[in-house]
Amino acid sequence: MSEGENILVISDQMSVREQLKEILSSYQSVQYLKPDETKKEIDRIAPDVVLLFRPEEDTSIDLVQYINSEYPDVSIIFMNDREDFELLRDVMRAGAIEFFVIPSELSLLSDRMKQISQVIQESKTEQVAATNQSFKKGRGQVYSFFSGKGGSGNTFLASSFAQTLMLESTAQVILIDLNLQFGGIETYLGVESNRSFVELEPVIKELNESHIRNVTEREKFSNLELLLSPRDAEAAENITEDFVTRLIRACRRSYDFVIIDLPTSMNEITYTALEESDEIYYVMNADTPSLQVFKHVELLFQRLNIDTNQRLKLVVNHVGRDNELKTNDLKDFIKTPTETQIRRDFKGVQSLINQGSPLRKERQEKKLLPIAKDIRKWVFSKI
Ligand SMILES: Nc1ncnc2c1ncn2[C@@H]1O[C@H](COP(=O)(O)OP(=O)(O)OP(=O)(O)O)[C@@H](O)[C@H]1O
Ligand SMILES: [Mg+2]
Repeated sequence: MSEGENILVISDQMSVREQLKEILSSYQSVQYLKPDETKKEIDRIAPDVVLLFRPEEDTSIDLVQYINSEYPDVSIIFMNDREDFELLRDVMRAGAIEFFVIPSELSLLSDRMKQISQVIQESKTEQVAATNQSFKKGRGQVYSFFSGKGGSGNTFLASSFAQTLMLESTAQVILIDLNLQFGGIETYLGVESNRSFVELEPVIKELNESHIRNVTEREKFSNLELLLSPRDAEAAENITEDFVTRLIRACRRSYDFVIIDLPTSMNEITYTALEESDEIYYVMNADTPSLQVFKHVELLFQRLNIDTNQRLKLVVNHVGRDNELKTNDLKDFIKTPTETQIRRDFKGVQSLINQGSPLRKERQEKKLLPIAKDIRKWVFSKI
């Protein structure tokens, strides 16, 4: 670790600062934060290395996860005052690169600073080479599908995208249906079940991977995991912003891709999911009414202060010769970049729905509907 590196120590205990003082004395830039200041201040500090001591409030995993997802280049070294295997496993999964018990391992920590630095450099190089082949736990991508206009194909595309992703990659994928009142994904994936993520309510504060796996249903052809909606207005009332935040973050930690189907209505649940998303796919059709709704949504996003920069992308659905507008025309009206275009396939899709059958049945399927080819091409660009 060179002296020029920016080191950030996060701890709510002065004693930890004291303990680290000596071994950090040779580094020029060392700053300190309390855990609850981190999310606000870390951007400003822009550290290269974070030394995080287990916070009093048990936010360890969230913090590691947060730093890791917002600042993937930062190396996180986790510290605790005692051995704790479960915690060790969880923080490493969430993205920490080392775990030390202090003060007993202080000299070890000090001795290994240089070594760690080397590992960081090497893993950075490796990561670049391996980006497209392997998936790393705890770095899950959250993609939300949203449309201000009903019937655009939001649910169908979210379901088919997730299913295709599962079939065409080695990634772990989970699909969440946040249409609390009416659900929807089960229709396109041929799943019948009374389970829903509402069952996670009693454990939401300590949510882990096995809790989640206990309530997921599986789509039988792809084995895609599904968190189904309660489809019940009353049950939906118990779902809070906090619940949704915890649910999405826990899924992010345990899966490579978290795909979310959102309802058309903007409420605190939709807002929370959008805020947690790495990418927001706005599904629209190439016609004037869709364009008008999009303009309203754009304004709403601005008013709600939702950061759309590099996150909001258009997915133009129902593309066909008879479209009122061409994609190029859309570009004249909309600055948001187009992620992909999906052809309309009325007959193909209709017969699938009538059979209660999902778009895909197996890996490397030979006879694919044109719409399945479009989705596969899109999925390939993500893996
Ligand atoms: N590219 C396409 N080609 C043909 N049919 C499609 C296509 N995309 C979606 N559909 C069909 O359009 C209908 C509406 O789709 P979907 O339920 O996904 O819309 P939505 O935007 O989620 O609507 P809602 O407001 O009900 O949530 C469905 O019958 C679906 O199968
Ligand atoms: Mg829908």
